[in-house]
Amino acid sequence: MSNQIKFDIQFSFEDPEPYGIVTRDLLKVYEDPASMEGIIGLRGVEMDIKPGEFASVIGPSGAGKSTLLNIIGGMTRPTAGSVNVGPLPIQALPQSLMEQYRMKVVGFLWQLPERNLLPVLTAEENIEFAQRIAGYPRNKRKARTEELLKAIGLYDRRNHRLGELSGGEAQRVGLAIALANEPKVLCADEPTGELDSETTLEIIDYLKEINRDQGVTMLVVTHDSRFERITQKSFKILDGQISGIQRTMDGLVADSWQTSQREEVAYVDQFGNVRIPQEVRERVGIKNYVRFHIENNRVYLEPADMEE
Ligand SMILES: Nc1ncnc2c1ncn2[C@@H]1O[C@H](COP(=O)(O)OP(=O)(O)OP(=O)(O)O)[C@@H](O)[C@H]1O
Ligand SMILES: [Mg+2]
Repeated sequence: MSNQIKFDIQFSFEDPEPYGIVTRDLLKVYEDPASMEGIIGLRGVEMDIKPGEFASVIGPSGAGKSTLLNIIGGMTRPTAGSVNVGPLPIQALPQSLMEQYRMKVVGFLWQLPERNLLPVLTAEENIEFAQRIAGYPRNKRKARTEELLKAIGLYDRRNHRLGELSGGEAQRVGLAIALANEPKVLCADEPTGELDSETTLEIIDYLKEINRDQGVTMLVVTHDSRFERITQKSFKILDGQISGIQRTMDGLVADSWQTSQREEVAYVDQFGNVRIPQEVRERVGIKNYVRFHIENNRVYLEPADMEE
């Protein structure tokens, strides 16, 4: 198996197809040395993101967003469960391949510009530096850098350093750095957390454009519900679990977050578990028991709690 993995990673620069992301029963328990108790970061997360899809994970602080992204990005290992990115079983990659994976297969965009950019280097040098570190083919570097600087609208400012860029521009450079090596997947953790509302919309537009033009699979985790309305598929995360999924009705990235037509669906896991959202349970008065009715290929759930 390890030969197979090596082969896929070595050839990832040549393989033009983006990778999908599939997680199954993903569990993460952190150790708390003070109390000796486990802290649950994720409890059985299941997601399917298709190759080339633009997806988001929305949830409040502490819900498990960064934990999930760090596992997909190969920075943290899950306690149990699986993550497949394209043909690669991430939870099973040996350490040496994990480093290759992080450099070549997945690109990361962080909330803080200082984490994305080396402040002493110019925008252009930052992109080239990322390519050099990852061993991106020498003969492709210049053209790729130029292409990316143009795609983020900063070709004219390529010689500027972090201190000479606005917050939004710095994030765009961060985006170009994350894409420097033609990754198959782009992961972004609160990429607009430091930006004002208007600049956030600008970044959303750049992400949409790059997703469309470069065909890279994108996963953004954020508090910002505008991502939920734009992305093809958006997972709600709460207490380490996916609590619902919203998707655009036509399965495409939405033109505008204000007019996007979406539907809310629930996910049925491999064991047949379905999560009924709290609002729905409250509205129809479901506590712990339901009765099934099947009619014309539809399943109806009826509250079946006994009076105490
Ligand atoms: N290294 C760690 N050690 C112990 N517990 C952790 C660690 N990292 C995260 N946690 C816990 O796991 C849970 C999920 O945290 P996570 O950082 O994934 O949330 P988040 O959704 O990214 O939150 P935020 O929006 O604040 O960034 C929280 O209860 C958090 O305290
Ligand atoms: Mg976080």
